[in-house]
Amino acid sequence: MSATVINGKDLAQELRNNMKEEVSELKEKGIIPHLTVILVGDNPASKSYVNGKKKASEETGIVSDIIELPVSTTEEELLNLIKELNQDVSVHGILVQLPLPEHIKEEHIIETIIPSKDVDGFHPINIGRMMTGNDSLLPCTPYGIVTMLKSRNITIQGKHAVVIGRSNIVGKPVGQLLLNENATVTYCHSKTRNLKEHTTRADILIVAIGIPNVINRDHLKQDAVVIDVGINRTDNGSLTGDVDFESAKSKASYITPVPRGVGPMTIAMLLKNTIKAAKGLSI
Ligand code: GUN
Repeated sequence: MSATVINGKDLAQELRNNMKEEVSELKEKGIIPHLTVILVGDNPASKSYVNGKKKASEETGIVSDIIELPVSTTEEELLNLIKELNQDVSVHGILVQLPLPEHIKEEHIIETIIPSKDVDGFHPINIGRMMTGNDSLLPCTPYGIVTMLKSRNITIQGKHAVVIGRSNIVGKPVGQLLLNENATVTYCHSKTRNLKEHTTRADILIVAIGIPNVINRDHLKQDAVVIDVGINRTDNGSLTGDVDFESAKSKASYITPVPRGVGPMTIAMLLKNTIKAAKGLSI
């Protein structure tokens, strides 16, 4: 049996269609959801991600602007801009695209965005609230992953979830969200010994390593659910995940593709967070 493919592109479209109605209702009440994205420097991948975020925002009726700053921007200049946006009542969400140039400390930037406008869900207050199981703006990729699992009624409670990768953006928070859903969670990372020993015990395997096609059917338990967070560019310019899709598909029960998997869900969750912030429901 071959796995069922969870198409994140279609699910994200469905979510955006529902959000369009929510945005219209807000506009009738005089609230225009507004996301401001800041891009420092000219990293082509970041530029492309930021444009994708703007396009998806506008499709749902969310006002979105991109503030492009030169790579020479100082940390102080960026902090001052964020402080202005924090005070601007017309702006509901602030996102600073990462990575930043080396002379700007990421944590200073993340900690300056007011938590109620932190639509990335990266501020320590939002992360802390997520850890204690309280309402918060959730990090978009982990939130998108859990939404994908729930969309297929995949049971999380009591399942063994194995997360490969421990980044602040994906690995750590997705493990926490799965724990909040009563999964038993194992984290694996670059120093983990005998990776296969762990992955072959996973009912749900989340792969966020950033190495193309390193996970294949030999790493899987029969009928595992496989979520591929990797976005790797191949020599010919196409995208590929961290999972060898065809190999894993022959053993998994569900699998996400790359592209058209987790990526579009990340953006859909960003829009969801922006609407939540515009409704005044974020902390
Ligand atoms: N760079 C890669 N992923 C992300 C993300 O989810 N948010 C931000 N701000 N930057 C990123």
